Amino acid sequence: MTSFFLEKSFLVTGASSGIGKALVLELIRRGAIVGALARRKELLKELKSEAQFPDKVVSLPGDVSDFSQLKKITEEFRKKVRRIDGMIHSAGISMRALAKETDIKVYESLMKVNFFALVNLYKLLEFELRQNQGHFVAVSSLQGRFATQYRSGYAASKHAVQAFMDSIRLESFESGIHVMTVSPGYVKTDISVKALASDGSAYGIMDEGIKKGLSTDTVAVRILKGIESGKRDVYPSQLRELFAFWISRFSPTLLDKLLNRARVT
Ligand SMILES: NC(=O)c1ccc[n+]([C@@H]2O[C@H](COP(=O)([O-])OP(=O)(O)OC[C@H]3O[C@@H](n4cnc5c(N)ncnc54)[C@H](OP(=O)(O)O)[C@@H]3O)[C@@H](O)[C@H]2O)c1
Repeated sequence: MTSFFLEKSFLVTGASSGIGKALVLELIRRGAIVGALARRKELLKELKSEAQFPDKVVSLPGDVSDFSQLKKITEEFRKKVRRIDGMIHSAGISMRALAKETDIKVYESLMKVNFFALVNLYKLLEFELRQNQGHFVAVSSLQGRFATQYRSGYAASKHAVQAFMDSIRLESFESGIHVMTVSPGYVKTDISVKALASDGSAYGIMDEGIKKGLSTDTVAVRILKGIESGKRDVYPSQLRELFAFWISRFSPTLLDKLLNRARVT
């Protein structure tokens, strides 16, 4: 098998479902060794059994919002594989609530998982990725480029991701670390079902947009293609969403008008 990923070791967070799971399965198919990090142990077990080469999946149960767990997990993975070539932070949570009604704890949770975990992962892995000319990848969102209603904390956390990635890309310009940001539009996963409502409970509804979103397999392939070709940014999205992004650059006021008229959920 000749593959860019053959025998390379990647740590993937958010591996138990959605985009993270698809990334693990595709990386394994391409001959990589993958540390699969998520909280739900039973889903990590299922993932291992679904993988083409189960022995190449290292299950790493844990919570990315807990720095001490993250430290132990990265050390455990490093011991098992001896070198780490890349990290993809796909763990994430969203929200569906008006800012004026949302408990501050919801904002804290979103920032911890979506943003602070990414910062901690960078601090834990930077030295190693520099040594190995590795890849540091964040799954952000188009909501990291512009914001819509009901996502104030989510969009803020993803804007923070975007800025952090832009800054470390410049800082690691000469080090050889490849820093790539992924900004998907709607992807068909359970993200809206698990999104936080104003009081922190699960929103519990599959959004129409998400239902019609890209498949996780398509997104995983786009991300791996981006890694292989050393891309700065990848935008796995449908035309309508890319159009909104484009308008946000050139006429934010027009986008406000369009979003106010649209039935955003
Ligand atoms: N779906 C979309 O439309 C869409 C669009 C743009 C961007 N994104 C981004 O894509 C990424 C993946 O989301 P998805 O759509 O694949 O949703 P998903 O299926 O809900 O996956 C989220 C993953 O994050 C993990 N996770 C959440 N909190 C965690 C924590 N505290 N510690 C460890 N793992 C945690 C979950 O695992 P456990 O619950 O087992 O811990 C799960 O594996 C997210 O960053 C999301 O913001 C998604």
